[in-house]
Amino acid sequence: MPDSKVESVPPNLFAVPDLTSELPPLHLDVFLQPYWSPHVAHELITTANSLVNPRGKGIYATDESPNVMQALFDGVPLNNHEERVWSEAENRERRKKWRECAYKAVPSEYISGVILYAETLIDFGLGPILADKGVIPGVRANGELMPIPSSPSEFIVEGLDGLLGRLQAARAAGARFSKWRVPIACTSKERGLPTQTALELQAETLGRYAAMSQKAGLVPIVEPDVEFSEDADLARSVEVHEKAITLIYERMKAYNVLLEGSIIKPSFPQPGLKNQNRGQYKPEDIALATATVIARSVPGSVPGVAFLSGGLPPALATHYLAALNALINSSKPPSLFSRLPPLTFSFGRALQGDALKEWVKGNENETRSLLQKWSKVCWQSACGVVPS
Ligand code: 13P
Repeated sequence: MPDSKVESVPPNLFAVPDLTSELPPLHLDVFLQPYWSPHVAHELITTANSLVNPRGKGIYATDESPNVMQALFDGVPLNNHEERVWSEAENRERRKKWRECAYKAVPSEYISGVILYAETLIDFGLGPILADKGVIPGVRANGELMPIPSSPSEFIVEGLDGLLGRLQAARAAGARFSKWRVPIACTSKERGLPTQTALELQAETLGRYAAMSQKAGLVPIVEPDVEFSEDADLARSVEVHEKAITLIYERMKAYNVLLEGSIIKPSFPQPGLKNQNRGQYKPEDIALATATVIARSVPGSVPGVAFLSGGLPPALATHYLAALNALINSSKPPSLFSRLPPLTFSFGRALQGDALKEWVKGNENETRSLLQKWSKVCWQSACGVVPS
């Protein structure tokens, strides 16, 4: 009788790890840089895989800064008699109550992880609401934006100084992954954005951040957010995405980031809002552009891709994701698309927008049911179920 504890096939870095195993397999360290402990590497790889598997599960982004949160609350129209001015302390309490309500409603069958703002994780201590139901808490690592002096419509992302200590504190508060967003301007070629300087700066920043995140035991989610407010056409957006992501992985490799223990969170390539042909493109066109970018620029060792929604209406963001996954489902070897990792969501606005409106109006039951509804729609989209 074979001993059931003896594995006939040695586990490897690219297998989805056995989430129940406590110790890393001894030979896991063979291909690691000497400074990696197999234990830490195993945990990073396990967490990264758990964020994007089983297929369909994805991430809920709730890492808006207090100012952005305030603007979202204030943006909900209320009847005149319900309008009032809130003090700073009351607004802090509102942020806490909103997050609490949302986290209690998060359905763990559809949501693998939630990105928290440091205030929510450390000051409010809300990570355990998620962790107790098997949802992985993560933390936003990036700071605020500063215009690049030579190109003021592009931005430096602050936050690298003192980052390791902040990430270690986040881990102590329960975080197991982090994210860093960099905005990337995108215009037509003639108008010339992004500049090469900005692309290199963003890639360098993400490489340094990702290495530090792994050092703190947190899976890094690198987030190149290519904007679509300008006049770029779809081909230009594809070109910029491909270039930005390729540069990011060059710098991540230069910093020896363990790609198997990382995730990427890109935008969907799409024509800009000022491009006159924007309306002609269907979700299937966006899906083909997106799959092409990922196949060309994301290394095969990255376990998953989780898209941001970028302020797209929820129905459109989920339609893009569904069309993308339907394309993957219909792609058979030797198509490159049949070899892509899970392509899922890490949505903020598209997942919670409707729920937040109800919460501001004081309707908690409706808030919960809308969050659950949109979590399920996102999950279905990541499985490739195209809305009829
Ligand atoms: P949106 O889906 O609202 O773009 O938010 C995702 C996010 O985390 C932006 O940094």
